[in-house]
Amino acid sequence: MNILVTGGTGYIGSHTCVALLEAGHSVIVADNLCNSKVDIVDKIKQITNKKIAFYQIDVTDEVAVESIFSKHYLDGVIHLAGLKAVGESVEKPLAYYYNNIVSTMVLSKVCQKYGVRKFVFSSSATVYGDNTVPFNEKMNLLPTTNPYGETKAMCERILTDIVKVNPSFSVSLLRYFNPVGAHESGLIGEAPTGIPNNLMPYITQVAKGQLDKLKVFGSEYPTVDGTGVRDYIHVLDLAEGHVSALDNLIEGVHIFNLGTGQGTSVLELLKAFEEANGIEVPYEIVNRRPGDIASCYADVSKAKQKLGWAAKRDIKAMCRDAWRFEKNYKELEGTNRIG
Ligand code: NAD
Ligand code: UD1
Repeated sequence: MNILVTGGTGYIGSHTCVALLEAGHSVIVADNLCNSKVDIVDKIKQITNKKIAFYQIDVTDEVAVESIFSKHYLDGVIHLAGLKAVGESVEKPLAYYYNNIVSTMVLSKVCQKYGVRKFVFSSSATVYGDNTVPFNEKMNLLPTTNPYGETKAMCERILTDIVKVNPSFSVSLLRYFNPVGAHESGLIGEAPTGIPNNLMPYITQVAKGQLDKLKVFGSEYPTVDGTGVRDYIHVLDLAEGHVSALDNLIEGVHIFNLGTGQGTSVLELLKAFEEANGIEVPYEIVNRRPGDIASCYADVSKAKQKLGWAAKRDIKAMCRDAWRFEKNYKELEGTNRIG
């Protein structure tokens, strides 16, 4: 299939491009590079030894989006482009609502016009809110505490409503849990700018000596050791989940959790990282982060049953690959920045 991947030079998008190319699909990337670098296109080619087309466009720009649809025959769209920093979304709600929602509306509108029927959307486990674990796709969604989360819930509703009146439109809403790790080549991975918000990149930067120590947000949650529990999933497993979602996409709206089904606490992840890489990572317990929930992990039975997909890589592989990328990234920094 010919697939348009929006946000294809980003963290999840770049791994998804690799997985699509390795599965024999052709890839066209659209990204405005607001949170990624163009070098990623070459890294994807280097890993896969395959060609990809790249367009530096903003996917809220309907004219620019249409120019891609008129130039390429497309079988489907995987829409990953989006702004994703929760804290920033509270500071800049309009930028988040505009970017994430308008891009989804523009892409689905142009899909209708050009008869492109397959649409895979990057949603998030955040739409479940503070529900009872494990989260399953039939649960009623609870309000999220920030504009970022609301954009995901709203895009899910918009796509669902479009399908109601266009039953041949086939939409897959993928609710990602916590993607971590990197491609085993060490060429692509997660390279946040500034101080990382998320746990794994914070750990790798402490391990590198770039940050002093990890701040563990809260130790009195009702969890195994009092620290927050999440469902960490290797980004390559997540990427492969997109290929399965696309290959099995049928008419209608289909929601899938992409996680491992395993909960891991902050201290458990820290210990796994230290063991996998033979490095000590200093930490201190601090106050809870506002908006955090105690536990978040997936019921993954639906994806297994309907897509024949399940995550294969364990926490150790996630920790090893995240660290390999961090080290590699440092070596390349200043000369050939990636990520
Ligand atoms: P990322 O920032 O690395 O990648 C997003 C890409 O989209 C970037 O390359 C950015 O330049 C591009 N982009 C943003 N707005 C754009 C626009 N208007 N036009 C064109 N390109 C644009 O983020 P990621 O972690 O790879 O996340 C990908 C998607 O998955 C996002 O929609 C995000 O909300 C969602 N998601 C991510 C996580 C996570 O933990 N990383 C969890 C759940 C959902
Ligand atoms: C964050 C986002 C969420 C998004 C998800 C995946 C917030 C409030 N939520 O959630 O919307 O869908 O990422 O991208 O940002 N932790 C520390 N110290 C740190 C960083 C994190 O102790 O420096 C803890 C957190 O309290 C949490 C766990 O580590 O218990 C994971 O945190 P993080 O990686 O930020 O992911 P989420 O909280 O799941």
